Amino acid sequence: MILAVLLGVSGGSEVRGADAGKGKSKVEPTLRELAKKRGLLIGAAVDATALRTEAVYRETLGREFSILTPENAMKFGDVHPERGLDTFEDADAIVAFAGAHGMKVRGHTLVWHLALPKWLDETKLSRAELAAVLQEHIRTEVTHFRGKIYAWDVVNEALEDDGTPRDTIWRRALGPDYLAEVYRWAHEADPEAKLFYNDYNAEGLGVKSDAVYALVKGLKERGVPIDGVGLQMHLLGPPPPMADIAANIKRLAALGLEVHVTELDVAIQDMKGTEAEKLAEQAKIYRQVLETCLSQPACKALVMWGFTDAHTWIPEVTEHPDAPLIFDEAYRPKPAYQAVREVLAE
Ligand code: G3I
Repeated sequence: MILAVLLGVSGGSEVRGADAGKGKSKVEPTLRELAKKRGLLIGAAVDATALRTEAVYRETLGREFSILTPENAMKFGDVHPERGLDTFEDADAIVAFAGAHGMKVRGHTLVWHLALPKWLDETKLSRAELAAVLQEHIRTEVTHFRGKIYAWDVVNEALEDDGTPRDTIWRRALGPDYLAEVYRWAHEADPEAKLFYNDYNAEGLGVKSDAVYALVKGLKERGVPIDGVGLQMHLLGPPPPMADIAANIKRLAALGLEVHVTELDVAIQDMKGTEAEKLAEQAKIYRQVLETCLSQPACKALVMWGFTDAHTWIPEVTEHPDAPLIFDEAYRPKPAYQAVREVLAE
């Protein structure tokens, strides 16, 4: 029996889950309805072009998720492509969609060493000019979205995998204590938004997650306005032990911080076995990550880095096809979707 789900053809109605051949259909709760009962926000990163051009993308996103993150539209290079020019159109459209569908928004990301515009040239701008540019960028963007952002990834990926500070344009411009400054700037512009630190390869226990813990502990102890940590959870290989992820979330919670899984995807290109076996393994990992988040009260949101295999960053970077998300390229739910639904419905 093939569970054919009438996604995207029912105009966003709740009729889904028709069993092929039986003609029966029943209303099934959506992921966001199930997640709400568990006190969890469940979401996805949003591709601005797909949102603008694909009805089934919009219908699936608005029906299944309660929080979203602009994948690229709020990044420095996307909002300030030229010096003194603000281009918020794509981000505004995503935020408007969230508002129309009762979804919260994660702002991503204010201070990062990537996705920077070409005019931001260290050889042409002094350290003081770069500091002023960054402060104006944060003030302008956070003020523009004031009151519409649930949480900002203020700083993204400030640490190397060995736990040492990443030598970035911003650390060079403002000095090693730049994080305290940029969190204060963000808080001044929107005192209501939760301010997060976001990173990858720091989900379990180890030298990098210890460094994240020490970093945010130090900021908290100094009274810097920081409210949470984002665990990106890009699982391109075997995941960390779930017990380690739980322990990491627990120790961050003990600091009074909220934790979000911010960029979950589960690559299958390096998995062994048949396609069906890979999809089953992928579903098991989605299940385990969700169960781990649900086991920790401080884990308030689980956001995937996209939701359909039609729009994922991984093949562009690995130059190899992949299917890391919970809907396939035709927006049909995969075993991973069913696994997420089953865990939420428990
Ligand atoms: O929009 C332009 C297009 O006009 C141009 O023709 C094309 C070719 O140059 O580039 C397009 O921009 C690309 C953009 O994605 C939209 O597709 C950028 O080159 C490309 O660098 C950008 O990649 C994004 C990457 O962050 C860098 O910003 C990925 O989509 C995005 O998934 C990825 O997401 C990051 C998170 O922000 C932080 N954590 C890691 C995660 C994966 O790298």
